[in-house]
Amino acid sequence: MLLIRPPAPADPSPPPAGIALRAPTPEDIEPLGRTYFASYPPGVACATEPEAIEDIRRTYAGEYGVLDLAASRVAIDQTDSRSDTTNAVPDHRGFLAVDLQPIVGAALVVERGPWDDAPDCPFLIEVFTHPTHRRQGLAQALLTTCLTPDAPLALRVQDNNTPAIALYQRLGFRPS
Ligand SMILES: CC(C)(COP(=O)(O)OP(=O)(O)OC[C@H]1O[C@@H](n2cnc3c(N)ncnc32)[C@H](O)[C@@H]1OP(=O)(O)O)[C@@H](O)C(=O)NCCC(=O)NCCS
Repeated sequence: MLLIRPPAPADPSPPPAGIALRAPTPEDIEPLGRTYFASYPPGVACATEPEAIEDIRRTYAGEYGVLDLAASRVAIDQTDSRSDTTNAVPDHRGFLAVDLQPIVGAALVVERGPWDDAPDCPFLIEVFTHPTHRRQGLAQALLTTCLTPDAPLALRVQDNNTPAIALYQRLGFRPS
């Protein structure tokens, strides 16, 4: 079903302790793909982890609409030891452990959904929280950073996805 939230102010919800939100970067594609795969029951979103990474790569390439990096967010678990780059050795490009950032959730927004029935407004093409970080308010924190008083936000959800529907209703999304 297609849901839409009219433009309205939204109180940003803080992320859970130890979690930081930031805009996604191209370096996030692989860890994002892995968390995307882990976040759905096997076979629901993608059949394999490589497929999930490829799907995220296609998302960045614009296959599901122009990805709005500034409006999207990834969640980083700063308590995960992989976040500690103190003793990390820079790789050949001079990057420090960027590929190892422990991404535990994301909300990805495109400028407009690529489907014929998508309304002409920003579209949330994906939101997920790693199973180890559920019911701590992470998806709510991610989504409230995507909501603005200036524009509606639309999304599509499976009719039987009860957790997601409960989350969206709470944030003011209604059937379009
Ligand atoms: C849906 C999903 C993103 C929720 O992530 P989350 O970080 O656990 O959600 P939050 O902790 O922010 O939940 C906020 C509110 O949403 C509702 N909610 C979230 N999960 C719920 C569940 N399993 N059952 C009922 N309500 C739920 C509750 O109202 C919750 O508030 P509460 O915990 O105070 O009761 C997560 O279950 C997920 O990644 N699912 C797989 C991917 C997916 O289906 N994405 C949506 C695609 S349309």
